[in-house]
Amino acid sequence: MSTTAPLPALGRRILRSRVLAALTTPHGVDRYLEMVNPMWAAEEVRARVVSVTRENPLADGPGSAAVATITLQPTSTWRGHRAGQYVQVGVDLPGSAKRMTRCFTVSSAASVPGEQITLTVRAHDEGQVSKHLVAAEPGLIVHLSQAQGDFTLDESPATPTNNHLLFITGGSGITPAMSIVRTLLRDGYDGRAGRKVTFLHYARSAEDQIFAAELAEIAAADNDVTVHLRHGDHVFSEFELRRLVPGYRDTDTWACGPAGLMELVVAAYDGGGEHRLRTEFFKAPRPAAGSTEGDVAFTRSGTTLAEAANTGATLLEQAEALGLKPEFGCRMGICFSCTTRKTEGTVRNVLTGVTSSLPGEDIQICVTAPEGDCAVEL
Ligand code: FES
Repeated sequence: MSTTAPLPALGRRILRSRVLAALTTPHGVDRYLEMVNPMWAAEEVRARVVSVTRENPLADGPGSAAVATITLQPTSTWRGHRAGQYVQVGVDLPGSAKRMTRCFTVSSAASVPGEQITLTVRAHDEGQVSKHLVAAEPGLIVHLSQAQGDFTLDESPATPTNNHLLFITGGSGITPAMSIVRTLLRDGYDGRAGRKVTFLHYARSAEDQIFAAELAEIAAADNDVTVHLRHGDHVFSEFELRRLVPGYRDTDTWACGPAGLMELVVAAYDGGGEHRLRTEFFKAPRPAAGSTEGDVAFTRSGTTLAEAANTGATLLEQAEALGLKPEFGCRMGICFSCTTRKTEGTVRNVLTGVTSSLPGEDIQICVTAPEGDCAVEL
């Protein structure tokens, strides 16, 4: 058998057996399979980088960053994804003993097992994983989670209603909306059901606009998809949204982008349109002003690791400011890698504004800010 062939289904069933699991404890079957062929897996999901395409080769202005679309061939253990979902991507960085994991939205249309997928990744200055992926060479193996997330189209593209769909996105927040629109167009959506799609996107500049050629094609085609691209200082306003989509508060809307855009969009739907709006932040908003009184303590097994005055920042940021290194993945409240136990105090979720004083509750410290005294077990 060629070492590049996928693992046959019968082989996978045998490899998932309890007997083999017991024999290969503590490392597990997948560790041994990976040593033979990194594309063989019984349970884990891995993927081989097939190609890397730069999306914004001309972008070099202040604040610009390289964005690339990475095509991946997942192992046969991949269960596919719904448009709008994300995956956790784990990479083994050179010189680092620890695997680093971050979340990225799948930008390609919905997939089934065996199909390739794409991730479109911005190489953030501080982002070791994103920079590694944008600079990746074909052949690199990465680790994947199964697809996760509910920022998806609730109905099947095969059974469309005549609901008008509205997407409002900014920067890299375009990726889940692109996945949904690509799925609709691929699966035969062409407006015949009387359903309109409006796509309103904000980018730093024309050079920073990703998927520019494809968006131009979609806009020019006879498909009832209307594309509005806004560049530079053009910021979102409720006035403009009302002009483009007069009944926007009664329109199913998906919004994803940086915190500043998302705050404006959420405010535009406030007071009656909230139930139509689905949001996904790709960066958690800065915590709104809350109580910065009291002290925050980080403990482990009853020992205090560090303690300092509450600055009002998220617990993850406060822990890092004290030199601690808690686990984290997405830093935006979706992957749960940073979940830890709060043992005392009141905390506020910075995405929802909900406060909680329950003792011994599990919290995501990347999107949780303390209100007053607080103790967290790391
Ligand atoms: S790091 Fe992903 S939820 Fe906190």
